[in-house]
Order: sequence, then structure tokens, then C-alpha cells
Amino acid sequence: METTKLSKTDSVKINLNGQDYDFPRIVGSEGEVGIDISELRQKTGIITYDNGYGNTGSCLSSITFINGEKGILHYRGYPIEELAKNSNFVEVSYLVIYGHLPSKKELEDFQFQLTHHSLIHEDMKKFFEGYPRSAHPMGILSSMVDSLSAFYPDAGYDGDVNLNIIRLLAKLKTIAAFSYKKSIGQLYIYPRNDLSYSADFLHMMFAVPSEDYEVPAVLERALDLLLILHADHEQNCSTATVRMVGSSEANLFASISAGICALWGPLHGGANQRVIQMLEKIRDDGSDYKKYVDMAKDKDSGFKLMGFGHRVYKNFDPRARILKASADDVLEKLGVHDPLLEIAKNLEEVALKDPFFIERKLYPNVDFYSGIIYRAMGIPTNMFTVMFALGRLPGWIAQWKEMRENPKARIYRPRQVYVGETNKSYEPIDKR
Ligand code: ACO
Repeated sequence: METTKLSKTDSVKINLNGQDYDFPRIVGSEGEVGIDISELRQKTGIITYDNGYGNTGSCLSSITFINGEKGILHYRGYPIEELAKNSNFVEVSYLVIYGHLPSKKELEDFQFQLTHHSLIHEDMKKFFEGYPRSAHPMGILSSMVDSLSAFYPDAGYDGDVNLNIIRLLAKLKTIAAFSYKKSIGQLYIYPRNDLSYSADFLHMMFAVPSEDYEVPAVLERALDLLLILHADHEQNCSTATVRMVGSSEANLFASISAGICALWGPLHGGANQRVIQMLEKIRDDGSDYKKYVDMAKDKDSGFKLMGFGHRVYKNFDPRARILKASADDVLEKLGVHDPLLEIAKNLEEVALKDPFFIERKLYPNVDFYSGIIYRAMGIPTNMFTVMFALGRLPGWIAQWKEMRENPKARIYRPRQVYVGETNKSYEPIDKR
């Protein structure tokens, strides 16, 4: 359900060509103010233009609240810091998708269901065989998720939505781990029902049939934290994509598969892989941070500080704060000394003192420190964005579900301002 806490107060007057038009002023539950322009074109004949949607609210939502100026992030009203400290990924998934913290019974049922739907159809294993070893796991992940609709054709708007939500949450970690095993030429390790969600994933990633493997508790907790921090982030590029595709009443698997593709790009979730590649480059180049900060300021260099900047946060990304502190802790517990952590911290320090970054309010985002923790956990760089997708899945699902349950939902169909050629006549090919 879309938020019931929305208040409509007053109206906003827009004067166009000397005529006043009234539009509702809407205020969200955290005091955010917007102008409802749903009837703008109908009333005035004009549309708005908003490059990159920086000022456009595409929906009303009661899932996640961000105050980018203050660096605040809440899921369903709960501060991210409290959830990171006290909860686990399965509980947070329940919270994000169903809107409340589960009771003991609800959590046990949910956990049971996630455990008992984690196998994938044996025929799906054959799909993995068709990919070259070098295939990027994000491409495999999105194709496999889309393929789930072939095995569960009831995944549409009218199907058993809850069952398909469980299936997807349960199977994504199996698909992700299988795609890794395929890339390193090892046998697939099947899910185990006696393990927690995070431990099961790590077991499928790192166990081999020839010996026992016990998932270290520090890895399990570190993964849980990373997944919690990624669980939702309101209308970012991939989530907006899930809603966009889902708005045509495309099925759950197709919609999420599209979201995975959107996440892959380096300006979004793909940044975590690029951050590590950038830090390695700086290390190999003698750790001259200033040189790279200067390059990032030079628009002609084509270089950006990956893991820096955010459309919404104009302050510290609260997830990056938590991860920076956790990186020290996890690396110490794992006994890992990674010079990239030192480079990242120094780079952050140099950038944050630089007027270019200060003026533009560019701070480290969630991707800046996450890769260093994944690396210490033994997760290969090309799997980082897959890890992001695992974490973001409950958010995508919750947003798809919220849209589906909204009786006023409409197909997403932005307009454009046409700036191309006009009134041309067809020219035969021999006259062109
Ligand atoms: N390095 C150097 N300069 C930057 C950076 C950066 N990482 N990010 C933004 N800027 C500059 C821009 O050049 C621009 O400068 P200008 O005003 O002189 O033209 C200004 O800061 C504003 O940046 P925009 O690109 O307009 O901001 P936008 O909101 O469109 O983009 C984005 C946000 C894509 C995150 C951008 O900051 C970026 O490319 N960062 C690096 C990639 C990254 O880390 N992505 C992960 C984001 S978090 C996530 O998706 C999970």
C-alpha cells in the first residue's frame, strides 16, 4: 500500500502565460514537500523536463526514507544504524517486504520457507554450462532470474505473489553461488537447510566436495551486515527500473532481472568492482593520491573517483560510515592486512579536504568500502555487484509489491520534448 500518512495541504499556484493554475501541495510523513503535477498537461497543455529525474517523484512509497542533506536512511521508519547493529538480513528482508518487524513465529515461518525453496530446478543447471568461463556473473544472474519465469509461469500479477517472492529470495543466492562455481570450474555445492541465509550462501561459494568446510562466524556476520546495508534505497536507478518494467504488469522475475541489469552499470552498483580496480591502479602507480584526486577534478581526463558522489546524499552516506568502521573490524578479525584499505582511507582524506569535492558535496558512497570487505572475505572482484544484487533483492521485491498492490498504479510512461527534424519528405535512395 502506498503511504497513508500523506497530507495534502494548500495548493501551489503556477502562472503560465498570465494564467494561474492550482496544483496540490503534498507533504510526506517526514515533512518532504512535493507538487502533485499529475494533471499538469491536462490542465495547461505543457509538460515538465527533468534531465535524470533529479526533481521528479515517480511514486508515493512507505518503504524507505532518505534525507540526503543530513545523511539519514530509514527502512520502514527504522534507522539503518539500529538495524545494522541489532538485526539480520532475513529479518530486515521481512521488514522491508511486509512492512513490520516479524514476530518470532513470522520470522521462523519466513526462515523455514526461504530454506525450503533454495534449490533450483536441475534443468537450470544446464544453462550455466552454456556460458563461457569468462562470462560476467551479473549477466548470468539476470538471465537466470528471468529464466525462473519459465519454470514458474504463475509469477505474473495474478499468480501466487507471495510464493514467488519466497522462491526468488531463496533461489537468488543459489544462482549467484553456482555462477561463481561455474567461473572457477568447481562442482556446484547445493544449499543446506541447517545453515542461516548468509552462512548457506558462503558455504555454497567456498565449500568443495572433498573436505568439510565450516563457515567462519565472522564471515557470516560480515555478510549479513553488508546485505542489510544494501537492502533498499528508494527510487535509485535499478529500483526505478524494476518499477518501470513491473508497471507494464510484467512478472516478478522479469522485473527483477531488469533491475539486475540496471545495477550492473559502473555509475550504480557496478561501482564497487570499479573502486577496487581504481585502488589497485593507485597502489601499482606508487600510491600518489593527489594525482588521482587531481585527475578526477579534470573533466577531460575521463577519470572519476569511483565510490564517490551520490545523487541524493550531499553528506556522508550513512552506509559508508558503517562500512568504514566495519572494514577495520572485519579485516582484523580475519587477520587480513590489505594495503587497499589504507589507500582508500588516505584517498578519502585527501578528497574530503579538496575544495572541488567540498563545493560539490561529494562524499564516499556505499561502494567505497564494501569491496574491501568482500575482498577480505575471499569474494572475487567480479562477484561484488552480484553481492549488491543479493542485498538489494528485498528492496526490489518490496517496491514491485507496493506498486502491484496500489489500486491507483499506472503504467510508467514518461513524456519527452521532441527536438529533432520536422516536416521532412521521403527521399528515394538514388537522390540521397
Ligand atoms: N569524481 C569526480 N567528480 C565527480 C564525481 C566523482 N566520483 N561524482 C560527481 N562529480 C562531479 C561531477 O562532475 C559534477 O561536477 P560539475 O558540477 O562541475 O559538472 C558534480 O560533481 C555533480 O555530479 P553529477 O554527475 O551531476 O551527479 P549525479 O547525481 O548525476 O551522479 C553519481 C551521481 C553517478 C553517483 C556520480 O557521483 C558518479 O559518477 N560517482 C562515481 C560512481 C559511483 O560511485 N557510483 C555509485 C553510486 S552509489 C550506488 O549506486 C550504489
